[in-house]
Amino acid sequence: MTGVSARPAKSEPRPRQSRRVLVVGATGRLGVAIAEGLADRGDEVVLTARDPNKLEQLSAALDRGRGPAPYVCADLTHRDAVSQIVEGLRAAIPPTAERGSVDDIVLACGPFPRTPFDELRREDLERTLTVHCIAPLLLVHALAGDLAKAKGAVCALGDAGTTRPYEHHVAYLTAKGAVKTGLRALAVELAPDVRVNIVELGIVADPEADADPLRQHRLATRSQLGRFGTAEEVVHVVLAQLDASWATGEIWGIGR
Ligand SMILES: NC(=O)c1ccc[n+]([C@@H]2O[C@H](COP(=O)([O-])OP(=O)(O)OC[C@H]3O[C@@H](n4cnc5c(N)ncnc54)[C@H](OP(=O)(O)O)[C@@H]3O)[C@@H](O)[C@H]2O)c1
Repeated sequence: MTGVSARPAKSEPRPRQSRRVLVVGATGRLGVAIAEGLADRGDEVVLTARDPNKLEQLSAALDRGRGPAPYVCADLTHRDAVSQIVEGLRAAIPPTAERGSVDDIVLACGPFPRTPFDELRREDLERTLTVHCIAPLLLVHALAGDLAKAKGAVCALGDAGTTRPYEHHVAYLTAKGAVKTGLRALAVELAPDVRVNIVELGIVADPEADADPLRQHRLATRSQLGRFGTAEEVVHVVLAQLDASWATGEIWGIGR
């Protein structure tokens, strides 16, 4: 007897719903590529960084028929930066009872300051902790209600140096380590409505290595793949992590 049961008819894939995504540090090497990747797949991108000229240019470049991308200028070292970003967002995209001003957040901000050990100062630690850790955590805290309405996600760019430190960057690595722990704590606080994850990177670009091929070689060989990554490779994983509906509090390593 051959019992061949009929397969259920395949349903048509549902079109992907556009997300409203705030990119923090949107004008950086990786921020620009991430904002473009989001806009290319139909998401509504909202930008924030410091430099108004760079923001204006990027905003125009991201016009995919819906008009320029909204943006808010804010310096994350300033104490009122978080409220400035939230107010700017509310003005650009007024929330409704059903939907907030943003659905998801990508954290790609901050400088990569060289702080030679002999010259390390309290201000270096305070500044990097503020930009890379305190302000991003407070921003996610302030927008948690918006994210929850959309079953949203936070994706933050971490640095592999927090588990395998390199020289001359004590302040930066301390701040990146602190935000990693802070975000994992937020993942617990915000579950199950908001997911919070980290993409922990090896090196895509190292300003000092550009002028020093030996340093470039030494740094590249820290990664088993023997090279720096590309912005496109980072974007690929960031988009996947935003969509990863069964992941929170996770750290996905690439190029480490
Ligand atoms: N590139 C890499 O190889 C690498 C490796 C590991 C981890 N990461 C992480 O990936 C993220 C992005 O790196 P990236 O290479 O794209 O950095 P980047 O090119 O230096 O860009 C940094 C971004 O942060 C903004 N920013 C800097 N200081 C700020 C402040 N005080 N207030 C507000 N915004 C500020 C910049 O805005 P303005 O232009 O307006 O100043 C810019 O948009 C960072 O979190 C970094 O730690 C990068």
